[in-house]
Amino acid sequence: MTQMPAHPLLYVQDLVKTFGSGSRAHTAVDRVSFALAEGEVLGLVGESGSGKSTTLRCLMGLETPDAGDLDYDRIDLRKPSRTQRRRFRREVQLVFQDPYSSLDPRMTVGQILAEPLVVSGACPARERRDRVVETLELVDLGAEHLGRHPRDFSGGQRQRIAIARALVVRPRVLVCDEPVSALDVSVQAQVLNLLKDMQSRLGLSVLFVAHDLAVVRYLCDRVVVLRDGRVVETGTREEIYTRPREEYTRTLLEAVPRLDPAGERARRAVRLARAASQGAAQPVA
Ligand SMILES: Nc1ncnc2c1ncn2[C@@H]1O[C@H](COP(=O)(O)OP(=O)(O)O)[C@@H](O)[C@H]1O
Ligand SMILES: [Mg+2]
Repeated sequence: MTQMPAHPLLYVQDLVKTFGSGSRAHTAVDRVSFALAEGEVLGLVGESGSGKSTTLRCLMGLETPDAGDLDYDRIDLRKPSRTQRRRFRREVQLVFQDPYSSLDPRMTVGQILAEPLVVSGACPARERRDRVVETLELVDLGAEHLGRHPRDFSGGQRQRIAIARALVVRPRVLVCDEPVSALDVSVQAQVLNLLKDMQSRLGLSVLFVAHDLAVVRYLCDRVVVLRDGRVVETGTREEIYTRPREEYTRTLLEAVPRLDPAGERARRAVRLARAASQGAAQPVA
């Protein structure tokens, strides 16, 4: 196994989560361990059902784990104090897969972005509007959108708004659960580049979940491969993509495009993203 970073910001050790009981018990997460260093982009990949979302949900406190340690910057997330919980909730932000269900349809964009600031107290009331506009501009949307509702936007724009909502409190860590898999290929490419750009401009640490290795390869410094709730392999991007140690990782890497339309879409999205970020006028898909 590749070593854990020396001073991880986020640390998951032997995490276990079982659903159901008796003969119906299903261990969705089975002693999963990994660590995220400050400024690092860590990918968590695995097929659908491999336990990626459950791992994130345990980390975010949305699910109670059966066992294991969860630490964030010296906070024990299994029993945080109230102040520690507040700090965690502000500093670690989540972006979901589906921008259609993650934004409240009754709220305006201005309200959607202001809400986390009010809840966390991350910014004084008189600076809120400036912070909201500044953050909207960060994701290439302007102040003219403040009074509009989620229904007025395309899927890609909604995901930008969801990302802005996560960034408005100026988090240290972004946790993304398949943030592009619900989007069209060309939109996936834009959102991937936006995330890449935000990560480097804001110096974010990112935990990025995807079922697709092409997307993870484009964004991540290190990769954790999950299968049936277990870590199969952990390595740097270089190690995982050029000399995977496990047969399972090889199989994921070699998934035949023809038999894997989702994987092929993701690979096209990454080609587009790469072309766009290199400033090519006419990216070839
Ligand atoms: N709330 C739940 N109740 C019962 N089973 C669940 C629940 N959430 C997830 N599971 C099961 O746990 C396994 C892992 O799910 P999940 O973490 O969503 O995987 P992934 O995100 O990798 O697709 C799946 O078999 C799924 O059916
Ligand atoms: Mg999932």
